[in-house]
Amino acid sequence: MSRAVEQPGSSKVGTGEASGKVILFGEHAVVHGAPALAAGFRPGARARVHGAARDELVVNGEQVERGDALFVALERLRQHLVLPEARCELEVDVPKGAGLGSSAALAVATARALLDLSGRTAKERAVFEAAQAWEGVFHGNPSGVDVAAAQRTGLLSYRRGEDPVDPVLGQPLTLVIAQAGPPASTKLMVEGVAQHKKRNPGQFQRTLEAITAVVQNAEVALRQGALTALGQLLDLNHILLAGWLLSTEDLERAIRVARQAGALGAKLTGAGGGGCIVALSPDQDTAPRIVAALEEQGIRGFVTHVGPPHRDNAP
Ligand code: PMV
Repeated sequence: MSRAVEQPGSSKVGTGEASGKVILFGEHAVVHGAPALAAGFRPGARARVHGAARDELVVNGEQVERGDALFVALERLRQHLVLPEARCELEVDVPKGAGLGSSAALAVATARALLDLSGRTAKERAVFEAAQAWEGVFHGNPSGVDVAAAQRTGLLSYRRGEDPVDPVLGQPLTLVIAQAGPPASTKLMVEGVAQHKKRNPGQFQRTLEAITAVVQNAEVALRQGALTALGQLLDLNHILLAGWLLSTEDLERAIRVARQAGALGAKLTGAGGGGCIVALSPDQDTAPRIVAALEEQGIRGFVTHVGPPHRDNAP
């Protein structure tokens, strides 16, 4: 079958969008095969692309140099899709490197835009694989949870190597997300946990099993809308992650402030070592009070609502 090839300089534009993400349960453990619960939220990232003689990359109005990791990621993604060079103008709304999936959101939005430009249907499996090639530039062993969450809005249950599953949500969640401190490198934090596994495999395995049990119980609590139990499970997951040395003074302080202001539970989210916390608000009215209490301590936060799963496209 012949396909019209987009010529460099042509006025045709391809567009794509993707979500930012928050991991509620199971980060790090998901790299080692445990399940995770995450949610995609908008706005995340948007891409506008058109044909060009050479790849060009602009993120939030700033030109990205050839050789920069982001540029390399774009080349890997484009080559994975077997598509011609393009000028890519990307906008990202989630803070970069804070554990909120900015990189995966950029990757998914770009893959969708390039496929749109080429006239090919954006098969979600192809978008996932291409975005994973992009993510591989930043850390060698991505589980895929960030990319899977970037492909949808709302809740998802994810296990490495399997298609995401839609969990049942008894009641929408009101979350507060706050940046507790400077973010750490996901690559380094993932490597730190791998070291831990190597040094103490027995203890590592027990923590992995405990996190798996927390995630499974969280699925039940989500289904039943049991918010108090869900809050306790967030706390428990945080303690287990802290056992892998992923928490910091900044994260502990932000978690304490959120709980004192009425959160039912709170934990680090994403890679840890800094970055963001996620706190569960008992209702919509308490959430702004949690944000205000955090801001009084100089910690910036925002409220997000998690609804039932919604896929952008059929897989
Ligand atoms: O992208 P981050 O920093 O939110 O971390 C992603 C979650 C990890 O479980 C730490 C890594 C992964 O690939 O799943």
